[in-house]
Amino acid sequence: MANMDVLNNIREAASFIRGKIDGEPEIGLILGSGLGIIAELVENPVVIAYENIPHFPVSTVEGHAGELVVGTVAGRRVILMKGRFHLYEGYPVEVVSFPVRVMKELGVKKLVVTNAAGGINTSYEVGDLMLIKDHINFTFRNPLIGPNLDELGPRFPDMSEAYSKRLRQIAREVAESQGVKLQEGVYIGLLGPSYETPAEIRMMRTLGADAVGMSTVSEVIVARHAGIEVLGFSCISNMASGILDQPLSHEEVMETTEREKQKFLRLILGIIPKL
Ligand code: HPA
Repeated sequence: MANMDVLNNIREAASFIRGKIDGEPEIGLILGSGLGIIAELVENPVVIAYENIPHFPVSTVEGHAGELVVGTVAGRRVILMKGRFHLYEGYPVEVVSFPVRVMKELGVKKLVVTNAAGGINTSYEVGDLMLIKDHINFTFRNPLIGPNLDELGPRFPDMSEAYSKRLRQIAREVAESQGVKLQEGVYIGLLGPSYETPAEIRMMRTLGADAVGMSTVSEVIVARHAGIEVLGFSCISNMASGILDQPLSHEEVMETTEREKQKFLRLILGIIPKL
């Protein structure tokens, strides 16, 4: 798509949303599998179905609703994506990350991304929360390929602090004050949708990954390009392939996030006012 078309699409989507909400959202949240409950924290919510937003894709996975929720959490103006887009659904990478560009256009300065992920680090336990310290983009897709949109950010964006040190420090302090165990590690993002083989997981452990999932990296690349500060969390929904002597399933992922969502909710609620 030509540059001007992309910019127009971002602006049209943003202006549609602006017409339905009061004020500028400052913090964006993208909620992963089973973590949509965080949307229930939003006060005075305005709910907008993706299908009504111009140029927005529509999500197709079970456990992912498709709506934006805009309102306040702990006195801060937030815009929250309940349900995200994944490469395995067949969306091109620039479509997966399009909503982040719309958030930026609406005024978002900080983005909190959450996902469910398989634990690669054998010291992790199912149900742990992991603060994302860094990521490895194993999707071999980059949403910034093509002519650079200079209006949005630089041609060669720095990724040396993709996940803000400052925000991670805040997250650790809040977790400690709540008595919540918080792992900190590297997220590796893959295309999916098949889960990994045990050999692939051993390889990824050798490469320095602590948790594996099928989202997040494209969104974070676009956010950093746009100068948005990022904070990320993985809910370790299962141990990755080959670690335990049992098959992996989406049901297990959903069951774990369901079980752990209150802990996650409390942590996010504690962090938002401090961002
Ligand atoms: N692998 C990839 N993606 C995932 C996993 C996993 O084990 N668990 C949740 N999302």
